[in-house]
Amino acid sequence: MTTLWSGRFDAAPDQAAFEWGSSFSFDRRLFEDDVRGSIAWARALEKAGVLSRQEAVAIDAALQSILEHGKSDPAFVSGPDEDVHSFVERLLVERLGDAGKRLHTGRSRNEQVSLDLRLYLRRRIPLLQRAAAEVVDALLTQARAAGDALMPAYTHFRPAQPVLVAHFLLAHVAPLRRDYDRLARACEEANALPLGSGAIAGTSYPIDVKMLADDLGFARVVANSIDASSDRDFAASFLYAGALTMVHLSRLAEDLIILCGDEHRFFEFSDALSTGSSMMPQKKNPDPLELVRGKTGRSIADLLALLTTIKGIPSGYNKDLQEDKHAVFDAEDTVAGCLAVVKSVVAGLALNRERAARAASGQLLATDVADYLVGKGMPFRRAHEVVGALVRKLVAEGREFGSLAIADWRSASELFEPDVLNRVTPEASVRAKQTPQSTAPSAVHAAMADVDQWLATALLPLENQLC
Ligand code: ARG
Repeated sequence: MTTLWSGRFDAAPDQAAFEWGSSFSFDRRLFEDDVRGSIAWARALEKAGVLSRQEAVAIDAALQSILEHGKSDPAFVSGPDEDVHSFVERLLVERLGDAGKRLHTGRSRNEQVSLDLRLYLRRRIPLLQRAAAEVVDALLTQARAAGDALMPAYTHFRPAQPVLVAHFLLAHVAPLRRDYDRLARACEEANALPLGSGAIAGTSYPIDVKMLADDLGFARVVANSIDASSDRDFAASFLYAGALTMVHLSRLAEDLIILCGDEHRFFEFSDALSTGSSMMPQKKNPDPLELVRGKTGRSIADLLALLTTIKGIPSGYNKDLQEDKHAVFDAEDTVAGCLAVVKSVVAGLALNRERAARAASGQLLATDVADYLVGKGMPFRRAHEVVGALVRKLVAEGREFGSLAIADWRSASELFEPDVLNRVTPEASVRAKQTPQSTAPSAVHAAMADVDQWLATALLPLENQLC
């Protein structure tokens, strides 16, 4: 086994405890970031006069070749090392001897692991943002295809008012756009260079941290070396953004599970994204969306795990922080997998227009009837009472507004006139809405155009993009 600290000890570490405590099996995901960080550190050491030009050039070439090797052959990134930092340093020393041994001058793994995680999130968060935009794209495509199709919207899970199917689909776009922005803010929080902090007190070499930040594309340098060695706020912000994204995907999943169910059947899942039962031949189950709903618990747990880890540690680095990577990587995998499957499920939805429209008619037009009376001068609270009594009568008789003749309307209120018959329809109900966030067809069209415009940048290809 290889450690970076054996000089202090008489005996070799306990094998089992060492293996148990080592992180290389999972922090190998930071390999690329660790090497890039070391390449920049070598340049900074040269500028500080710690490395000769010749040593810096040799280190740079060796690290570039280690990076290439590791990227083309992931199995290369393995060994008995304590962590990814020890692994990279071991390879460097094996290749360069003493020059390799100079690389860690003035630097600590405490700041190195923070740097690696920040670099990692800065290149991975944009991929999650892109995946969220792809779900938005699938929802927008369905919204466009739905055209003027109608469905009921629910409050308390009881039919409330008619809406355009497109409006319902865009209701799931809005939170995903907030998630996109929330992920961007987590990335922005990670965008500070921790190098120069040393183990806790800073570094005794004249490191140009401004140049180092520019070299690694960081927007700024951290404010305080003690804070920097244990600050994982950026990771917690990422986990929060991920957990809330999962909460939104879970709610979309729940809506679709219900609305594709036999009781509603407003939409149908594609066969390719459904599963059957081993016993009941008729079953067509929405397993992918149930898994999305189920995995939301893991994602929330990842956030709680990190917050709980952070809350108990004293100032400065403590090994507890090694747990941060389990949470971050698990959350990333969970969110990425769920965004991809939700995109496929949404793209494969088939709308059942007739069924959805039928459910958008009936007693849920009661508010429109009250609004009609308000238009004729009746105070709303009075109109609510009149229409409430009318609904009570209709419910008792098993009828709907559509079955009322003009005489029936007029016995409820003298203010009803023949035009009520075409004012109380689902189409008229949505058309009557007047605010930009409403289900009015003109408002929904404008909202779709806005999403389309947003997607033009949110879907841009990401080649090695750091946020
Ligand atoms: N594997 C460690 C971690 O993930 C790297 C930092 C080790 N630092 C230390 N002082 N032991 O946190």
